[in-house]
Amino acid sequence: MIPDKAPGEDVLHASGDLKKGAHVPSFEKYKELYVKSIESPEEFWGDFAKDFFWKTKYTGKFLDYNFDVTKGAIYVKCMEGALTNICYNVLDRNVHDRKLGDKVAFYWEGNEPGDEKTVTYRELLQRVCKFANVLKSQGVKKGDRVSIYMPMVVELVEAMLACARIGAVHSIVFAGFSSESLCERIMDSRCSLLITADGFYRGDKLINLKLIADEALEKCRDKSFPVEKCIMLKHLTKEDESTVHGSLSPPAKRACSDLQVPWNPEVDMCWHSLVCGVSEECEPVWCDSEDPLFILYTSGSTGKPKGVLHTVSGYMLYTAATFKMVFDYHPDDVYWCTADIGWITGHSYITYGPLANGATSVLFEGLPTYPDVSRMWEIVDKYHVSKFYTAPTAIRLLMKFGSEPVQKYKRDSLKILGTVGEPINPEAWQWYYNVVGEKRCPVVDTFWQTETGGHVMTPLPAATPMKPGSATFPFFGVVPAILNESGEELDGPSEGYLVFKQPWPGVMRTVYGNHQRFETTYFKKFPGYYVTGDGCRRDKDGYYWITGRIDDMLNVSGHLLSTAEVESALVEHEAVAEAAVVGRPHLVKGESLYCFVTLNDGISYNQKLEAELKKQVRVKIGAIATPDFIQNAPGLPKTRSGKIMRRVLRKIACNERDLGDVSTLADSSVIDQLFENRCCTGV
Ligand code: WT7
Repeated sequence: MIPDKAPGEDVLHASGDLKKGAHVPSFEKYKELYVKSIESPEEFWGDFAKDFFWKTKYTGKFLDYNFDVTKGAIYVKCMEGALTNICYNVLDRNVHDRKLGDKVAFYWEGNEPGDEKTVTYRELLQRVCKFANVLKSQGVKKGDRVSIYMPMVVELVEAMLACARIGAVHSIVFAGFSSESLCERIMDSRCSLLITADGFYRGDKLINLKLIADEALEKCRDKSFPVEKCIMLKHLTKEDESTVHGSLSPPAKRACSDLQVPWNPEVDMCWHSLVCGVSEECEPVWCDSEDPLFILYTSGSTGKPKGVLHTVSGYMLYTAATFKMVFDYHPDDVYWCTADIGWITGHSYITYGPLANGATSVLFEGLPTYPDVSRMWEIVDKYHVSKFYTAPTAIRLLMKFGSEPVQKYKRDSLKILGTVGEPINPEAWQWYYNVVGEKRCPVVDTFWQTETGGHVMTPLPAATPMKPGSATFPFFGVVPAILNESGEELDGPSEGYLVFKQPWPGVMRTVYGNHQRFETTYFKKFPGYYVTGDGCRRDKDGYYWITGRIDDMLNVSGHLLSTAEVESALVEHEAVAEAAVVGRPHLVKGESLYCFVTLNDGISYNQKLEAELKKQVRVKIGAIATPDFIQNAPGLPKTRSGKIMRRVLRKIACNERDLGDVSTLADSSVIDQLFENRCCTGV
């Protein structure tokens, strides 16, 4: 499956310097470790596990599982029976056993240049303990779910680790989601407490976060799910720092006269008042390896988001190991992942993976284009960033401005570059490699999912010869296969469904509250395999190339959205009878949302309605789901059984006249009309 020898032609190799001292210095070493990870998983992972603290040892097998629905319920258990605590392992162990107390955990860089703060491992531990004590005093216990809806501030990391310390399950909702989405997630996870902030700036746009959080709680109340506790961090409205105990994020320098902070004394509590005078010590709650650690929602093809559940030990081992090997982490590195903690990338590669390794990271609140398009490189130089991890959409966005904004800065500290979120087109890959990394830094194109917990297909920077656009080979413990439509495994060069044949420690355990949905979504189509939902090609050298989603999912700027989710938001509008949403290739975002709407009788399409529909989706889901195009579609192409032919709509969205086989179309006259009504003629 993995070639015996690394291919020599048309591939790029890491420099000799990088190979020196690398954790995996050659392709041969990768092969050797890979075989060990598959043949003796207990021994392989044991080498990582021995670095962590275990209150008690595990009792059964290292990895126990059933991946075959025809043989009973799907389950995965890693190190079950062992007691540990992930917060203890990422903080106390680093401070006390590894003597890293004075090491910087985070350089926080605010939205405004000049807004900055540094937090060491010791300080982070104290702050987390204080906040864990606050949560306890609010009655939060092991197993309780806590919703977190916060901007990119250090307190967000504190809140998540405080939950982990007391065995509570965090459910972070990205601060770009709407009140409706937040309400849905609070209710689905049955959270008892919400942690939020007053507001924040994204570039020059003010987000009234508390206002949105309040709307969400109001909606929960309307749906008979009252959440009567809300802790709010004063991020923008903080008074003089010296008067506020436990201050961390400094006052943003922008005026915020438009900030609205509704306050209900029955429900709302101020973060700073709560932590004032609270003890800096908090004994961790020892958790079983398989106790839940967090829930994180990801789009589902039915439209209702799925609460992906990860558990303690497998996730800890996997994020720690992938972080160390994929970014070839060394103690003097300064690492920066530009993702938001509200997504899995931030969970695994801002919080847990880096902290488990005792790494120093940049935590950035702002945007790559604010105040100008050099911001990223300015930050790279400011903190001497050596490992940099971002998304193809950000690369494509910056590429548009040429190399000059990049070359204004030195970037000589950079050693390894990474990407995640969607397939990276070779052109963007080359620009990243040539211009940003000046051909000096390997690019690790990491394929993974919210569900996989960590990287599953990825190069190792000093070991894997790179091919621009290929996620290359599996990480340790991961066994990929490519299946055809009939579920047969394909050998050699081939293309089909990307699946995994066995679990690795970091794979999700269930969909929160709906194990059946977990089984149906990932294991039913091809019994015996975990189905990723992505298409994949294997070339003659055995390299894997992810070709994108093959289900009804869209990837907009690295974020997954389901067509059904956007469609149901559209049809909730009184003017809309039916909606069909497809992806249309977009140079920066990867895909844009192209929506076809059939209106109710007697309603005519106009710009006002179009604006209303866009707003409707933004309000229902969030700004990331705002439609790019809406087309009036009096009729939709359907099969005789009534199924919308999205394949045809995708072609119409792109103005491609060759529609392929349309013999199953019930009424072919709709096609001409759809082409005529295209809303972006000329594009
Ligand atoms: C989907 C998962 C993993 C964190 C961010 C997204 C796509 C992700 C790559 C890559 C090609 C990629 C896939 C995957 N994807 N990384 N390197 N190459 N495609 O997490 O929201 O769970 O999305 O993102 O389609 O299934 P997510």
